[in-house]
Amino acid sequence: MRIAEELQTAAYLFASILFILSLSGLSSQTTAKRGVLYGIAGMIIAVVATILGQEVQGHIYILIAILIASIIGVVVARKVEMTAMPQLVAILHSFVGLAAVLVGIGSFVDYTEFSSNAAQTIHLVEVYIGVFIGAVTFTGSIVAWGKLEGKIASKPWNFKGLQSLNLMIFILITFLGILFCSKSVLDGGLIIGIMSVLSCFLGVSLVMAIGGGDMPVVVSMLNSYSGWAAAAAGFMLSNDLLIVTGALVGSSGAILSIHMCEAMNRSFFSVIFASGATKPQSGSKAALEGEVTSVDHENVVAHLKIANSVVIVPGYGMAVSKAQYPIYQLTQLLRDQGKQVRFAIHPVAGRLPGHMNVLLAEANVPYDIVCDMDEINQDITETDMVMVVGANDVVNPSAQDDPTSSIYGMPVIEAWKAKRVIVMKRSMSTGYAGEDNPLFYKSNVDMLYGDAKQSVEHLNAIFSR
Ligand code: TAP
Repeated sequence: MRIAEELQTAAYLFASILFILSLSGLSSQTTAKRGVLYGIAGMIIAVVATILGQEVQGHIYILIAILIASIIGVVVARKVEMTAMPQLVAILHSFVGLAAVLVGIGSFVDYTEFSSNAAQTIHLVEVYIGVFIGAVTFTGSIVAWGKLEGKIASKPWNFKGLQSLNLMIFILITFLGILFCSKSVLDGGLIIGIMSVLSCFLGVSLVMAIGGGDMPVVVSMLNSYSGWAAAAAGFMLSNDLLIVTGALVGSSGAILSIHMCEAMNRSFFSVIFASGATKPQSGSKAALEGEVTSVDHENVVAHLKIANSVVIVPGYGMAVSKAQYPIYQLTQLLRDQGKQVRFAIHPVAGRLPGHMNVLLAEANVPYDIVCDMDEINQDITETDMVMVVGANDVVNPSAQDDPTSSIYGMPVIEAWKAKRVIVMKRSMSTGYAGEDNPLFYKSNVDMLYGDAKQSVEHLNAIFSR
């Protein structure tokens, strides 16, 4: 009996260490693969040690559930396009939230003897907080999924009094929580029910109020919430590993959210409460000055042949068209001719943190030529040619000089400062934030219209002739 318990504790400790190693591995591209493997190993140990725990019954049902869920997981993961990853992540967060709600309600309904009144109150606090965070995460993640999938308009839902309404709901939830934990005359089940409904509404209204440009922060913030929801479930189930894992996910998600806010020059609280600081100033937009000029592939290759230094700025369009493979071939062709080629990665390029890094690594682009925004901005004025491949918001100068723009204040890659810029996209349409881009109208900028992958393949063919 005692040995089995000790073995489980040792397995949990080992799994926790693997999760920490996994997170540290994921912090750099060169060690990321190892980090993922540590995570997988940790999770297998955690699941096996939990199932074999003494208090666990009905193994056959658990195994059937794991089998069905694994099949669904494998099918979905194989089918999902890289561009749809954020939606998948968002919907997976909603499952964690729902699980925390169900665990909370289950452990409230399940009668347990407590050694003291204090122990019972602590349990009720755990249940209440767990269900609250779980319900907010559940509905908030569904709304985030809808916005990322384009099922819900990405425009912020902001009516007068929304924030006061959210605050009132939060105060009401806190008040109900005090009644619940002090075991007042009101029925606990009724309180949990009302609180769950209110929390679900709060999840919807908090995420609906966040505009498209701030969605990167929402995705990582919901990641953090799902971690705290899991930690709360760990407290309810007295499962130390779930507490540790939840806290790791919760805190790393929170740190990532703060980093993303720094990258976008947003204040964390103004994003999550969709308060004034994120709103663009009112006023009429400045008319776009200049003329849009386009070039053909032959012309771009002619420019590339005389350029000594080239910076490639990938964006969401590169992911959509899967242009990373021909881009790597182009990089090799240019490097073979002794030219300096570097990639400029904006922290929120694409649709999920590290999106561009993952795609470039997939195409075998060497890590040492993949640079971050600040590094490239430092010497962009000396760069002969910048090729913007399916990027838009991350190279939009209005982030620096148009206070009426929704992305005003966000640091951007200053592509327009290079000697020559080629923008590869299919049309003049806007990016994720829905803002016009004055970059396209600048005199040193030419558009190369078309699907990014086809365009780069065409360039490669001309280059190799
Ligand atoms: P976007 O501003 O979204 O622009 C992408 C551009 O790619 C579009 O203007 C589109 O123009 C072009 N495009 C689409 N398909 C293409 C194809 N097949 N070939 C060539 N071009 C194509 O992308 P970005 O510059 O990477 O900026 C990212 C935006 O997403 C930011 O606003 C960011 O805040 C937001 N966001 C980021 C994240 C994370 S965590 N990274 C999460 C959610 C939202 P055409 O239609 O004219 O081709």
